[in-house]
Amino acid sequence: SRITLRQLLDHAAEHGYGVPAFNINNMEQILAIMAAARAVDAPVILQASRGARSYAGDLMLAKMVEAAEATHPAIPICLHQDHGNDDGTCLSAIQHGFTSVMMDGSLEADAKTPASWDYNVEITRRVAATAHAVGVSVEGELGVLGSLETGQGEAEDGHGAEGALGHDQLLTDPDQAVAFVRETRVDALAIAMGTSHGAYKFSRRPDGEILAMHVVQAIHQRLPEIHLVMHGSSSVPEALQEQFNRFGGEMPRTWGVPVEEIQRGIRHGVRKVNIDTDCRLAMAAEIRRVAVEKPAEFDPRKFLQPSMAALEALCRERFEQFGTAGQA
Ligand code: G3H
Ligand code: 13P
Ligand code: NA
Ligand code: ZN
Repeated sequence: SRITLRQLLDHAAEHGYGVPAFNINNMEQILAIMAAARAVDAPVILQASRGARSYAGDLMLAKMVEAAEATHPAIPICLHQDHGNDDGTCLSAIQHGFTSVMMDGSLEADAKTPASWDYNVEITRRVAATAHAVGVSVEGELGVLGSLETGQGEAEDGHGAEGALGHDQLLTDPDQAVAFVRETRVDALAIAMGTSHGAYKFSRRPDGEILAMHVVQAIHQRLPEIHLVMHGSSSVPEALQEQFNRFGGEMPRTWGVPVEEIQRGIRHGVRKVNIDTDCRLAMAAEIRRVAVEKPAEFDPRKFLQPSMAALEALCRERFEQFGTAGQA
């Protein structure tokens, strides 16, 4: 059944767990995530970026999620717009059955230029008012994450958060967070606490210097009713990097966010944990393996079935690690 982000994360807060938000683009990802959720009785957040919506098409995406819902009636599903960039993106998502939208006003509508405070407050407040009028939840974002938002780091030097801006510039200010939530009325707030999007987050295992848990704690203390969202939360597991490279991939050694750090975040008020890169890597590593081990194979299902199994295993692991398992 369909559930809003607010309903789901209120339950998560009450029971002290976190919910992974996995990105979806195609049928195989939806099938794998739902199979994992069913196996451990976890509620799910399926999130679609603008790129996902144009890749699959709005109607196809909406109908696939509808089919997943009918297949698994006992699993609560929140369908969320990831990184909505303007009113039109968020409102058309709502028209297609999304129960939650992210209005990412931390960037101008071009999704590249850092936005002013006034721009972010005004567009987020406006989208939240409309979404709430039709029972849809809203996630806002305050602060600057790494590579995606600066256009630096990931592409240029292979190191997002460290390479792009100075460390302090990457963190959300707790005083501003309080004012932002008061003015916009968002249900959930994405905060910058040292992570970045993509595979190339850190050049070593991140420690307390790099991941600013004190920022999470400070914001949670002052805004206990607001659900905190951690973007860029892929762990980029070493085993997946190794498999990817063993079968011809070329991924320079990199570090993501250790699962223990995410668990620490969940103890301090993080409720939604965005994961895309790990899902991509799990599938791509299996596609590479099949391509190398079975060079005569050309049935796409023979590539995609093991890819789905790998993604299902990854999702199941995160449901268990974040305490989502058993909460459906
Ligand atoms: O935050 C970005 C997500 O990983 C989605 O990426 O825009 O390439 O679909 P995408
Ligand atoms: P990762 O690139 O770490 O998977 O982050 C995904 C994300 O934040 C989507 O909004
Ligand atoms: Na999002
Ligand atoms: Zn994100």
